Amino acid sequence: MRILLVASAFNSLSQRIHTELRQRGHQVGVELALGDESLRVGVARFRPDLILAPMLTTAVPEDIWSQYLVLIVHPGPKGDRGPSSLDWAISTGAEEWGVTVLQAVAEMDAGPIWASEAFPMRLCGKSELYRTDVSDAAVRAVMTAVHYFEKGGFEPEPLDYSNPEVMGQERPYHSQAIRRIDWSSDTSATVLRKLRAADSQPGVLDELYGREYFLHGGHQEDQLRGDPGTVVATRDGAICRATVDGAVWLPQLRPRRIPGGPATFKQPATAVMDRELLVDVPEVSVTPAEAAIRETWSELRYYEYDSVGYLEFSYAGGAMSTDQCRRLLDAYRQACARPVTVLVLGPARDFFSNGIHLNVIEAAPDPAEESWRNINAIDDVAEAILTTTDKLVISALSGNAAAGGVMLALAADEIWCRESVVLNPHYRLMGLCGSEYWTYTLPRRVGTEQADRLMSEARPVGARDAESLGLVDRVVGEGAAEFRAWVRKEAAALAADGSALAERLLDKKRRRALDEAAKPLAAYRSEELGRMRQHFYGSGELYHRLRHEFVTNVRPTATPAHLLG
Ligand code: COA
Repeated sequence: MRILLVASAFNSLSQRIHTELRQRGHQVGVELALGDESLRVGVARFRPDLILAPMLTTAVPEDIWSQYLVLIVHPGPKGDRGPSSLDWAISTGAEEWGVTVLQAVAEMDAGPIWASEAFPMRLCGKSELYRTDVSDAAVRAVMTAVHYFEKGGFEPEPLDYSNPEVMGQERPYHSQAIRRIDWSSDTSATVLRKLRAADSQPGVLDELYGREYFLHGGHQEDQLRGDPGTVVATRDGAICRATVDGAVWLPQLRPRRIPGGPATFKQPATAVMDRELLVDVPEVSVTPAEAAIRETWSELRYYEYDSVGYLEFSYAGGAMSTDQCRRLLDAYRQACARPVTVLVLGPARDFFSNGIHLNVIEAAPDPAEESWRNINAIDDVAEAILTTTDKLVISALSGNAAAGGVMLALAADEIWCRESVVLNPHYRLMGLCGSEYWTYTLPRRVGTEQADRLMSEARPVGARDAESLGLVDRVVGEGAAEFRAWVRKEAAALAADGSALAERLLDKKRRRALDEAAKPLAAYRSEELGRMRQHFYGSGELYHRLRHEFVTNVRPTATPAHLLG
């Protein structure tokens, strides 16, 4: 079938549905919803059998939904309506939520229902929920609806609030007035719920030492205490604020935009606050091993289980700044010093990595210089992984990865992936050629021709397709928790088979030496960085404009050509 995806942004869910439909043999095009007229042109050009809207914040014009079947993915259970579904689900403490596929009609979210899927709610931020449980349920519901459409003769269920199965209701926009934190009375649990419902967008508008910021992210702290509302500690760029019954960590802040002033964007909290305000605030560090057994915020956790080392890293938006890469490298070296022969890398949930930190670079006094520092710092991490010859290193991808983040995963010996993962193994959309030793690792896995194709097409690749290309080694179709359990079982089995593992490690060492003799890693790096230097420091390069537009959320004026299908 010819299926056109109409979306406000080609975001993680749109990408996931794109890859799933293509895997099932459909011809899929994408049209960004940038206005009724351009949508009409896009629909006429693609001539779809079916239009799917996986993420749409605007209405589809009547002349389109009356001529084509348009199915909208709504992130709420049957009967739920309104623009802030997940915000309400989190802020009201719903135990179960859902995704509904409904037909576009004149009234928003009121069309007949084609499919609906439920899932149990978990304690996490809204965008993480969206990229995991919501995405998984959406894919199931969309595939059911597409199946009904292909089969023909399906009668969708009209929305009927007298049906006891219809549990949802219409809810208003979740405004900042609802989100407001009262530091003098809100408990940590309430503060965290408000922060989670607003993460990663729009954040919770708040005042801190007389300035207005949007607070982004929110994590429990088990030990630190202080006067409610005050900043009691900093750690790796985050601030810890006391509540009436504990304290919470806030990793990122976004200053409120001054009317007429430049766009503001999220940054590590301590980077946007006046240094003087923090002079008396202690930096309270935690080691990755301590963090693994405490209820506190840390981007790094390390633990051992069944003779396997697990280094979990987790970065907001998957972005890794120079400082974050350096801390990761330290933690990696410490993990390498441990007496384990199998080492597993990757966060328990959500993004594996999306490469260098474009926001931190954008905010730097000299973005070219900061880009250079950042790419070198992430290359150092990739190099450390590539040159580890006394351990089998596994990248475990529970969530998506893009650009340098994919290539960082490829530095390991094996890549294990959750079936729902979407990879974007390319850099072109940011105007870059990329580094992270990809010119060594990618062709070695998929061949030169495929590597060139992946780089130039710049399309998302689903985990199953990635497996058949050889980009990843093993794929399992489970939720994040089951994937983690599966990784533990498989990694433990590798570690337990001592003689097979010793053989593999010998072979690894031999192959690395041969590769090094054929072309040293340093040569790959210097060729890649030669091109990156040009992108960072050269004149007329696209990178600085593309990065600025990405960080400040500038909407494109037309659907990018590579998505049209
Ligand atoms: N630097 C800074 N922030 C980043 C980032 C990066 N490299 N990659 C993602 N983010 C942020 C996004 O801005 C977004 O922030 P928001 O929640 O405030 O809106 C958040 O992470 C989630 O990303 P989003 O784009 O909403 O997720 P997605 O799943 O829809 O798309 C990508 C994921 C990876 C395709 C897209 O974010 C992207 O193209 N990132 C840039 C990758 C890149 O070029 N890296 C640099 C070269 S190595």
